[in-house]
Amino acid sequence: MENSKIPLTLNYLGENHRIQIIQGQYHSLMSLIADHLAIPGFGLCCGMGSCGTCVVQIVSPYSQVKRNVLACGVQVNDELANMIILIPDKVY
Ligand code: FES
Repeated sequence: MENSKIPLTLNYLGENHRIQIIQGQYHSLMSLIADHLAIPGFGLCCGMGSCGTCVVQIVSPYSQVKRNVLACGVQVNDELANMIILIPDKVY
C-alpha cells in the first residue's frame, strides 16, 4: 500500500511554511512542528497533554473555523490535509 502525502501549512511569526508529509511519518503534530521549525521551548515538554505548552490552532481553509488543540495529542493523518496550523508567537 502506498503511503499518501498530506499537504498542510505551518504558520509561525506570520510566515506560511507549506509542507507535505507522508502518512505515518510523525507520531504527533508536535513532533512534526518541532522537526520543521526551530521554536525555542516547543516540543521539549511533557508530550502527554498535561503541561499545555504545545497549544496550537488548527484552521480550516474552507470554513475558517479555528480550534485550539494540544499538538502532542494530535495524530498526523488525512484529517490535517490542507489545514493551516497556527503556532503562537510565544511558547509558554
Ligand atoms: S507537550 Fe505538554 S501538553 Fe503537549
